[in-house]
Amino acid sequence: MKDENFLKENNARHLWHPMAHPADSLANPPDIITQGEGVEIVDVDGHRTVDAVGGLWNVNLGYSCAPVKAAIAAQLDKLPYYSTFRGTTNDAVIELSYMLQEFFAPDGLTRAFFTSGGSDSVEVALRLARQYHKIRGEAGRVKFLSLKKGYHGTHTLGASVNGNANFRTQYEPLMPGCYHIPAPYPYRNPFNETDPERLAQLCVAALEDEIKFQGAETIAAFIMEPVLGAGGVLPPHKSFMPAVREICDKYGILLIADEVITAFGRTGSWSGSRHWGVQPDLMCTAKAITNGYFPYGAVMVSGGVAEVFEKDTSGKGAIGSGYTYSGHPVGAAAAIACLKETERLQVKDNAAARGAQLFAGLQALAQKYDVIGDVRGGHGLMCALELVSDRAQKTPIDKKSIGAVQRVAYENGAMVRVSGNNVIMSPPLILSETDVETILSALDAGFKALP
Ligand SMILES: Cc1ncc(COP(=O)(O)O)c(C=O)c1O
Repeated sequence: MKDENFLKENNARHLWHPMAHPADSLANPPDIITQGEGVEIVDVDGHRTVDAVGGLWNVNLGYSCAPVKAAIAAQLDKLPYYSTFRGTTNDAVIELSYMLQEFFAPDGLTRAFFTSGGSDSVEVALRLARQYHKIRGEAGRVKFLSLKKGYHGTHTLGASVNGNANFRTQYEPLMPGCYHIPAPYPYRNPFNETDPERLAQLCVAALEDEIKFQGAETIAAFIMEPVLGAGGVLPPHKSFMPAVREICDKYGILLIADEVITAFGRTGSWSGSRHWGVQPDLMCTAKAITNGYFPYGAVMVSGGVAEVFEKDTSGKGAIGSGYTYSGHPVGAAAAIACLKETERLQVKDNAAARGAQLFAGLQALAQKYDVIGDVRGGHGLMCALELVSDRAQKTPIDKKSIGAVQRVAYENGAMVRVSGNNVIMSPPLILSETDVETILSALDAGFKALP
């Protein structure tokens, strides 16, 4: 590897960073991470921090997961690649699909369609939803509904159901036929409703209203994250997703759970859908499926949807989606090892316990610092602080101040993520009690340093 000076000299010079302005990356070069160990990362200067971002919501088992590394190495030696397009498959992906249908059986999901990541999983799920209706003779069901503030990746169909202008405006026009309803976000919503349960009812009413307005016979699916993640960690009231399920059933609309973040234990349950007691028709997974060690994803398909495809004799059920790397054997080997570790360690239980500790600690910080307008979490290891310059007006804090909080927290031992006026935390699920304390004390230092 090139030396430290070379890396710093060339940082952001010859690559454009995702989700960043190229000029900003040049003016404020990114932290160069060179090592990962357990739940910690080390930068080019040797500075070690707890990674409260968990890679990017994906390194659930931490950076030293030996069985996953060994499985990847062994698979590379044995069969580094073979396609799963019609006519061929590989042994690793067969084993993985068996394990996944066992893992997701309580969610009613019986089939896997493999992808190369979250955006791919969303794209495939949306396409399969349209196809499902076409096979059943309802070709007019092509529209999609989703939540404002939702994040569904950056492919064009996914960006079209995305609920954040940052990921949309510069790429318009997006796909027609995608409509958004208000998110169950008590801190800010068009109904000015702060009670989570009443707000959930209002959002569900808005969903039903939109369905009636569009015409149920034109709508293919509703897609939602069980806990909205990238939009700022917005856990809905527990009544929300079950009510959405009911409405979808009432109008023959498929429910797609985008569990790219929430599948495999992050909410304290094995899936976000299970967390709310809901069985979706399709589920998008990625990220923790391989602990971030290999780009991979899977769309899980319910028994009912699978039956429609598998019983089709018209030819319409032939799947015209797929990627060169769908079912990649190295990714499959990584995922098998991850799933075994995930279950062996029962990481969902630690996610629940450490998540409760982190949430309580963040609430205590909010008592201390007025700049914290809203604290969100309470459902496993996904938490956010929404920062404001004026609590009464809820004025979003400026970019420089939130950046300063992040910087000082980093210097004090915790990497946290800034998104808009939110500080987001999604650490590995193997986090210890001491690690949570480190994150909280680093944030405390960050807030203390604000003028
Ligand atoms: C809920 C959700 N869906 C989709 C995606 C897109 O995944 P990827 O970045 O792997 O394409 C993400 C990424 O954060 C996500 O959080």
